[in-house]
Amino acid sequence: MIEIEQAQEEQSKPLPQPEHRYEGVGKVTGKAKYVAEFTGPFPRKNMVYAYMVQATIPSGDLVSMDTRVAERAPGVVAVITPFNAPKLPVGKPQPPAKRSLKVLQDTKIDYNGQPIAVVLAESLVQAMFAARLIGIKYAPQPAKLDFMGRLGEARPLKTTSRDPNTKNRGDANKALSEAQVKLEQTYVTPIQNHNPMEPHATIAWWEGEKLSVYDTTQYITGDKMSLARVLNIAQDDVHVMCPIVGGGFGSKGSMWSHVVLAAMAAKLVQRPVKLVLGREQMFGPVGARPTTVNTIKIAAGPDGKITGLKHDAVIHASMLEDFVEQSPGVSRMLYQSGSNETSLKVVEMNYGVPTFMRAPGESTGTAVLEIAMDEMAEKMKMDPVEFRLLNYAEKDLSEDLPWSSKHLRECYAQAGERFGWSKRNATPGQTTEGNEYIGHGMATAVYGAYRSAANAMVRFLPNGRVFIGIGSQDLGTGTYTILQQTAAQALGMDLSLIDVKMGDSTLPKAPVSGGSQSAASIGPAVQAACTQAMLKLADLAIGDPKSPVHGALPEDVAVEKGRVFLKKTSTQGEDFTALIARNGNRPVETTGSAEPSETSSSMSKHSWGAVFAEVGVDKDTHMVRVKRLVATYDIGTLLNHKTGLNQLMGGLVWSVGFALHEETHFDPNTGRTVNESLAEYHVPVNSDVGEVDVTVLNIPDMKFSPQGARGIGEIGITGGMAAIANAIYNATGKRVRDYPITPDKLLQA
Ligand code: MOS
Repeated sequence: MIEIEQAQEEQSKPLPQPEHRYEGVGKVTGKAKYVAEFTGPFPRKNMVYAYMVQATIPSGDLVSMDTRVAERAPGVVAVITPFNAPKLPVGKPQPPAKRSLKVLQDTKIDYNGQPIAVVLAESLVQAMFAARLIGIKYAPQPAKLDFMGRLGEARPLKTTSRDPNTKNRGDANKALSEAQVKLEQTYVTPIQNHNPMEPHATIAWWEGEKLSVYDTTQYITGDKMSLARVLNIAQDDVHVMCPIVGGGFGSKGSMWSHVVLAAMAAKLVQRPVKLVLGREQMFGPVGARPTTVNTIKIAAGPDGKITGLKHDAVIHASMLEDFVEQSPGVSRMLYQSGSNETSLKVVEMNYGVPTFMRAPGESTGTAVLEIAMDEMAEKMKMDPVEFRLLNYAEKDLSEDLPWSSKHLRECYAQAGERFGWSKRNATPGQTTEGNEYIGHGMATAVYGAYRSAANAMVRFLPNGRVFIGIGSQDLGTGTYTILQQTAAQALGMDLSLIDVKMGDSTLPKAPVSGGSQSAASIGPAVQAACTQAMLKLADLAIGDPKSPVHGALPEDVAVEKGRVFLKKTSTQGEDFTALIARNGNRPVETTGSAEPSETSSSMSKHSWGAVFAEVGVDKDTHMVRVKRLVATYDIGTLLNHKTGLNQLMGGLVWSVGFALHEETHFDPNTGRTVNESLAEYHVPVNSDVGEVDVTVLNIPDMKFSPQGARGIGEIGITGGMAAIANAIYNATGKRVRDYPITPDKLLQA
């Protein structure tokens, strides 16, 4: 019975409206302000501009910093160094991640680019000029800069909470030694940087002991907690504002050193301080995706069923902390396998601190596993889709849990059909067009579905409008828009009557916009708040002698389209504006909250997808063109046709960069990033991206949330990279296992 009900429920729904972005007009007209653009309201005094000075050696100590000349330079207000900085009671780690900040509390240098001073001046140019006048004496120490040469030093993780080494199943070594067909290969992914369009920026000012900041953040509440802890002030004395974010991708998911430096500086000079990082300053001090070396072994029986899968990864860590990039994570759950073993070790390096970067774990994990699967399918002489279907995981074997909802088969079928997969020539190097080899490849996309407790506020206003307030943030993803849609739907009101405010830490608390969890967490909170608010309106009307519904039983009263009325005689009712007007014009306001159900921990929750790629590889230059990407996703309910598909498409575009372009290069002698600009750190531009065809199944996952929507921020970057790499192999017969796949590597292969 239950199964029948579920089968009826798990159906594709009609696609939702492609509503325009709530903040779209504000953005294109320049009316909407990004953090760095705010000029007030500040307490009277003029803004001071801060420039963050960075170390130019990768390891060692600061012996002295002569700031006398810099301090006398035009416009300079102060120069703060570890030798004169106020001592902070730097506190314990804060969610969402342990962050070891470098805020001028000691003279130790752990990476080239680490903040070592802040110059404050009347203009940014004056601050930048004066920064060059500081006389810095270093005592350098030998630095660890050659990651591949140090793989032998790999050590287990210091933190055990995210240690994957404990989840082994069966005897993978035995399966490998007994297998008739097996694969053993090593795949290397590089260090990458987030490069959101909007650089990190902070404006900080104090009024007495109260600190206010505009800050570029994916987590206003986290910022507030972290600032309070680091500065040893009360959380209630910290006010964080961030109305819009120009992309974060994880780099704005936790608070970095420059935020504290801006607050410290503002306190010291008792003026508002603006600190905006230059593009080049975003390579090091605000996180990166760590490099990963993945040894993957797959064993299969003659029938094509995987009998054993091993994935051992070594990633780089900073000297400051272990950030764990779970690249072996997907290898534990994506396919059925008779046995499964994974491990993860780190090598400490004198590089900036790695952090979450869009689909941390899954992006690297699906890249390497899905290329290994392609290699294995070829060894089995099987079609790559067929090989995956044969090893389809009917449940999460790693956690021994059922899926909340999984329609990956339909994704393979739908995307494969749209792509024309059946026409592919499986033999590499056979298809040509002009001076190009043409290749076709595919891969699976997957990302975990997360949800946290969230709160929201709804306020019915005397003017007939409804205000929704929530302490979440919109990273440019469409969060404002889907909240407006969610509220409009819950209230049965027109979109144009709903105002949404986010990005202010005085609003009800919401989780970090990370792990693709915002929509899934705050949508249900807004729904709950709307329900509460409508009940409150009904109560008010029932108790009001002048209301047409006065004295009715609560269950006989309905609220819809801004009207309170009797269910039986719907003409007997009134607009909420009339009710509010009679009650002193006081807005009717309430908060609501939502959290994952108790049963959600007994299910494994993921979004799924299939990506197909067509590439053209120039026969002479070996330049790769991604001609087509066709992807279908099972992401639960699609909340907005326009912003949702836009998110998925953005991720797919990024997978082109992952496959072909992106890599952070370090000077082997100084440890400095050498391509610290968008001219030299290559991200895909329009001419790099061919046709992109994205569809979704739109099958609600009602076990996951009342809206049935899982997150979509990150799954788009998973799978695409492997699909492109597999297509390049199909085009050329050359298998590159050290990424990105640049023309030189294809020439040598
Ligand atoms: Mo995302 S990398 O969890 O901000």
